[in-house]
Amino acid sequence: MEKIIQDIDILDRNSQEAMETVKTSKEENTGQKKKLYIESYGCQMNFADSEVVTSIMKDNGYDTTSDFETADVVFLNTCSIREKAEQTVRKRLSQFNKVKKEKPEMTIGVLGCMAERLKDKLLEEEKIVDVVVGPDAYRDLPKLVETAEDGLKAVNTFLSREETYADISPVRLNSNGVTAFVSIMRGCDNMCSFCVVPFTRGRERSRDPHSIINEAQELFDQGYREVTLLGQNVDSYKWSEDENNKAWLEKKEKKGEEVQVINFANLLEMVAKISPDLRVRFSTSHPKDITDEVLHTMKRYENICKYIHLPAQSGNSRVLDMMNRTYTREWYINRVDAIRDILGQECGISSDMIAGFCTETEDEHQDTLTLMDYVRYDFSYMFFYSERPGTLAAKKFEDDIPLDVKKKRLQEIINKQQALSLERNKLDIGQVQRVLIEGRSKRSDEQLQGRNSANKVVIFSRENYQKGQYVNVLIEECTTATLFGKVVS
Ligand code: SAH
Ligand code: SF4
Ligand code: F3S
Repeated sequence: MEKIIQDIDILDRNSQEAMETVKTSKEENTGQKKKLYIESYGCQMNFADSEVVTSIMKDNGYDTTSDFETADVVFLNTCSIREKAEQTVRKRLSQFNKVKKEKPEMTIGVLGCMAERLKDKLLEEEKIVDVVVGPDAYRDLPKLVETAEDGLKAVNTFLSREETYADISPVRLNSNGVTAFVSIMRGCDNMCSFCVVPFTRGRERSRDPHSIINEAQELFDQGYREVTLLGQNVDSYKWSEDENNKAWLEKKEKKGEEVQVINFANLLEMVAKISPDLRVRFSTSHPKDITDEVLHTMKRYENICKYIHLPAQSGNSRVLDMMNRTYTREWYINRVDAIRDILGQECGISSDMIAGFCTETEDEHQDTLTLMDYVRYDFSYMFFYSERPGTLAAKKFEDDIPLDVKKKRLQEIINKQQALSLERNKLDIGQVQRVLIEGRSKRSDEQLQGRNSANKVVIFSRENYQKGQYVNVLIEECTTATLFGKVVS
């Protein structure tokens, strides 16, 4: 048992590392003429975009394949968030190019954030791809692929202020048929100094709530039981029937003029009302924007999961200021206190942390550790600082913390999180929790796995239970990453 638990731990931790994982398309045969292979890196939003891309390509004569060597078109939907992410993609591109030598008619395309960041450099200087398309230009993909097939340059990295792909019904890739992601906004206006996203994804814009509700309703009708609403900063979701333009809305609000707007709390409520059997999650919450109204809405609806991903990045106010996060340690703590006051201790809280940002001192790093102790995070994504060309930090500050110091600090953060995760998971032992079954456990066919409201993986014996069902599980054991229990009626 001990050995099995350890193995599951490692698997689960890896699968939660969404930022560093890759997802590939599966075989789908609907009798179309051509084959598309798509591989996706980066965040959940990028994975959601690949489902939009697949839908666009499907409407233009493509089925998906899980074997890139048999594909007519190979797409890599890429991430630029850290240097390592880009290195991985470059390695992959050289593997694809080896196959292309034998099969010159194959078209290779780079999509996503790295396409946006490097633009036609990938085509002209490096000559490793045929098509380069940024995150707002996916409607142009079929045409660009044709252009490339004619041997011409095919690039579109135009960033839009309006595009939300609202009308496109994503083709679910890697789906378990139970949980799905729904994009509610695109881009980011925050300009955190370390971050490349505002440059690769453009200005923030919110998607029409009617199309969001329709998509969630359709998912529910198809048997899905959980949707995760996605945006870089979901708390700044804002949409108006009159004119959906953020600058226009803000101007009106400043003047004190009446405008009917749908904010994130309103949207959450609209999705939650689809059915008490449809769970609603969301990511990512920005500490500067999360409101008590959102927390109260979460409390009112049992089906809105009690879990908040609230990235702190650092526990020190001076470092936070340099990061341009626009909140202090005290502000962050106030938001955590509000979560605990309104939603109680059971609400899961997770974070992203960056170790060794420019000029960070040892004492300031200690502030990150003490913040973690204060919050008692259930889980964190943890990174060391990786300078990204073109960002505010790259322009203004020296990347002056030596790599070994960054790594040492990161290790301390990881160790702290491991201890906190175990401590938090132990609190679940003895409780009966509602779990939505997502499928077989990765380790054993005799076990099923699902998640509790706080987003923790729960494993229990299969018996006759099916994925998509809700069960009440008595939690009996835990590791740092997983809970184990048995179904009780
Ligand atoms: N919109 C989300 C974050 C998206 S990027 C938010 O504001 O919280 C995901 C995470 O990657 C960030 O939270 C940050 O912790 C990390 N990250 C971003 N840029 C980075 C960089 N240059 N070096 C290291 N980590 C970085
Ligand atoms: Fe990047 Fe900050 Fe926007 Fe998150 S909020 S995507 S960290 S700029
Ligand atoms: Fe990466 Fe772009 Fe997402 S940089 S983390 S894929 S928004």
